[in-house]
Amino acid sequence: MNNRRSFFKKSAALGVGAFGINSLFNELHAADFHEAEKLWNENSEDNEDYWSVIQDAYTASKSNIIILNNGGVSPSPVVVQEALEKYNKAAAQGPSYYMWRIIDKGREPLRQHLAKLAGCDAEEIAINRNATEALNTIIFGLPLQKGDEIIGTVQDYPNMIQAWKQREMRDGLVYKQLSFDFPIENDEQIVKAYADAITPNTRIIHVTHIINWVGQIMPVKKICQMAHSKGIEVVVDGAHSFGLLDFKIPDLECDYFGTSLHKFLSAPVGSGMMWVKKDKIEKIWPLLCNSQPKSADIRKFETLGTRSFCIEQAIGEAINFQEGIGSKRKQERVHYLKKYWAEQAQQIPGVKIHTSLKPEYSCAIAGVSIDGMKPEELDSRLMRDYQIHTVGINWENIHCVRVTPHVYTKRSDLDKLVGALEKISKKA
Ligand SMILES: Cc1ncc(COP(=O)(O)O)c(C=O)c1O
Repeated sequence: MNNRRSFFKKSAALGVGAFGINSLFNELHAADFHEAEKLWNENSEDNEDYWSVIQDAYTASKSNIIILNNGGVSPSPVVVQEALEKYNKAAAQGPSYYMWRIIDKGREPLRQHLAKLAGCDAEEIAINRNATEALNTIIFGLPLQKGDEIIGTVQDYPNMIQAWKQREMRDGLVYKQLSFDFPIENDEQIVKAYADAITPNTRIIHVTHIINWVGQIMPVKKICQMAHSKGIEVVVDGAHSFGLLDFKIPDLECDYFGTSLHKFLSAPVGSGMMWVKKDKIEKIWPLLCNSQPKSADIRKFETLGTRSFCIEQAIGEAINFQEGIGSKRKQERVHYLKKYWAEQAQQIPGVKIHTSLKPEYSCAIAGVSIDGMKPEELDSRLMRDYQIHTVGINWENIHCVRVTPHVYTKRSDLDKLVGALEKISKKA
């Protein structure tokens, strides 16, 4: 058998996800999704018959614990779990051959597949392990000089704040942090706060697309347009937006974008992606070594050493699954779930919602608190007495419990949450 045929035979046997036609998704879900499609009507975000098919595709929907911290990290549907297992088993037979020579061949098709989902050129996508790696690569790779100014906020993610502070210490950059009082239902107020902080030395604005602590969606495109009118570049932290909101990366008009794929895309833990606008790739230094650090080839950011190509390849099935639902539907459903519980919760005396419930300003995440109770206490009461897993937030001026449903979350789980809040608030 010639090498080419033998390669295709082996990759078909492995079902290398990004190779499309051999997708496990087709094997496991295509028929169910096809049937579910018949249940779909316009505006079916509350069509439980349709969504029960999606819920069934996740083992997490059958967990003894109600998982409402999907903003931290999300479970994968069965198809992604099985793909990962299949690749791991194959690689375990001899990773230097099966992982490096067979599974590795899936990277370029995967890049294409990710680019299609992101609505961009595949030559702008680097595949890596998480949003921290993607955004730290950009932050440490930007050729900035002493005195150059960066504008971020105290509500950005700590790993990015620390990276900017490290550059400030090391290179004499000036890192300024705004502070917002969320929720804010006024884009212009947010854009103005960044605009007012700009000086002739400002080079970069760092924006978190969805503020992880409390779910505020930031007006990224408007910030980018304002920044570009003054010659300033924008780095976007899309850890919570990619795979959740229905957008294409170029629509944001930003210069750099980093995300994890193990949050809303439901890819395996340890998968991430970086997007760099094509004409900016050349000037960004890779964080790790590369033989051509000044090259304009996005692959210069992928010299990450020995790592799991199995995790990487299973991303392909997460994209298939996402496409099976559709990004618009997913965004609308998850927003509906958030609104479903939060609107009921805010009617309970003593319960406060910390997030806008309008779809322009938030999607999956909402913050909740009970008067007189610390977030960590509410979080532990929910777990101890009701087996509901959330996360207590105490960060800067934000104090609440963060609740994040996902597509596999059942309405009945959210009824339990509302019931629990009601009971806890009576005892508070
Ligand atoms: C806004 C934001 N950015 C970045 C990250 C970092 O993600 P990771 O730990 O996957 O690198 C997180 C994690 O929760 C986040 O919420």
